[in-house]
Amino acid sequence: MTPTVAPTLPPEIDPLVRAFLDAPGALADVLTRFGSPAHLVFPQVFTANLARFRAVLDARVSGYRICYAHKVNQSRAFVREAERAGIAIDVASPEELASARGAGFDAARIEVTGPKGEGFLRDLVDTGVTVNVDNLWELRRVAELAGDSTRVPVLVRLSGFPATPISRFGIPLSQADAALDALAAQRDRIALRGFAFHIDSGETVERVRAVEACLALTERAYGLGLTPSVLDIGGGFRQVFTADGDAFDRYVLALREALLGRGEPMTWGGNTFGFHLEGGAVHGTPVFHKYANTVPATRMLDDLLGAGLAAHGGRSVAQVTAENLLDIWLEPGKALVDHAGITVARVEFVKDVGEGITLVNLDVSRDTVTPADQEVMVDPVLLPAARGDEQPVGVFLAGRLCLERDLVTNHKVWLPRRPVPGDVVVFPNTAAYHMDLSAATASMHPRVPKLAVTQGPDGFQVCRDGDYEPAAAVAAYRGA
Ligand SMILES: Cc1ncc(COP(=O)(O)O)c(C=O)c1O
Repeated sequence: MTPTVAPTLPPEIDPLVRAFLDAPGALADVLTRFGSPAHLVFPQVFTANLARFRAVLDARVSGYRICYAHKVNQSRAFVREAERAGIAIDVASPEELASARGAGFDAARIEVTGPKGEGFLRDLVDTGVTVNVDNLWELRRVAELAGDSTRVPVLVRLSGFPATPISRFGIPLSQADAALDALAAQRDRIALRGFAFHIDSGETVERVRAVEACLALTERAYGLGLTPSVLDIGGGFRQVFTADGDAFDRYVLALREALLGRGEPMTWGGNTFGFHLEGGAVHGTPVFHKYANTVPATRMLDDLLGAGLAAHGGRSVAQVTAENLLDIWLEPGKALVDHAGITVARVEFVKDVGEGITLVNLDVSRDTVTPADQEVMVDPVLLPAARGDEQPVGVFLAGRLCLERDLVTNHKVWLPRRPVPGDVVVFPNTAAYHMDLSAATASMHPRVPKLAVTQGPDGFQVCRDGDYEPAAAVAAYRGA
């Protein structure tokens, strides 16, 4: 059963990725060489994203530092690309730190965020990396562990801003006095670089409140004779997954109707995606809201830098930080790898399990393509493309694990034709958290390999992610 117009979730696809998918034989060649499934990363898309960020910052502020948030993807290629581009890196574990070091980052370009624990702190204090402290215990412990001759560079992460959801991270504003006391008392051992926050929200106003709080504390720190020189605005800049916000809305509308029993069923196993049904109506906010975003990360950044600050006579964030000689640091993760990765799987078999219920079984499991088990609300690309005389078909994509719950999609996906074994399914835009965050080796399946794809004068080159070297690839690309 197909609705008159099949509801779709059209993906935004970067032109370079599109060119790769369209290049005759390019993807087939990769699958022949490396097998299926595979994660493909595109370092040149990373570089282009970075250039857009830099353009916004260059236009607005004089001093800034971009720290690539490594946690978004374990890819070595992205880390190498970041190193070559001359930016800094934000690491959140000893393993990420080792990865950054291995890719060539020196201590001066490394910032360590997140909660750390005794062992990690001990390893950090003498290295010269900037420690972005998460809590008062860390702040005091850094001072205790620091040798008499070293001053540990520290950023103090704050949270608990007015009208902002509670966070498990950062020092709540209510404990700011204790933080300032510790910073002042330990000035011989701690070099305060500045105050930091990270808010995972699309709301500029939330970040503006955080900026105001950080600036107020910066003033108080000056009053204590401390010399902070950084305002760290964190990451959280959004991705754009959808190529068509209206189509996304139409899909969600059809889904709501389906939940009310109107039209064809669109969810697997009674899943309601955070909606609840009451009084014959659908209520609530769906859990996949972020996939509907149409505001690019660079606009979010520009809006924040241009936002007026009430406590500073309406002058903008960019102006006030410049007047106070504060450098802006930011830690984008997902925004830097937006569209810089795809995940490729093969159709194993197609199975009809009931009226209008078709399962397309893939050689990946759900954890291969979802960030922390979230539903991925963007249509995959089916290859080879439909000939044009076929009918769209609504299907659920099923995973390879022998587990009832291993559905790659719990929502119905309309593909342009009925797939057959051996077809290729491409999941777009998976570089940010989708590839690694939930990745498991359940049923003893090996981890999905990661490959780096670059475009050069002779077409596309592909190598294992761990073997990628940016200089060679960029030289080839520039020569095009
Ligand atoms: C402190 C900090 N900075 C930066 C990031 C990166 O966030 P995003 O990938 O949303 O830009 C995170 C993500 O959790 C974080 O905790």
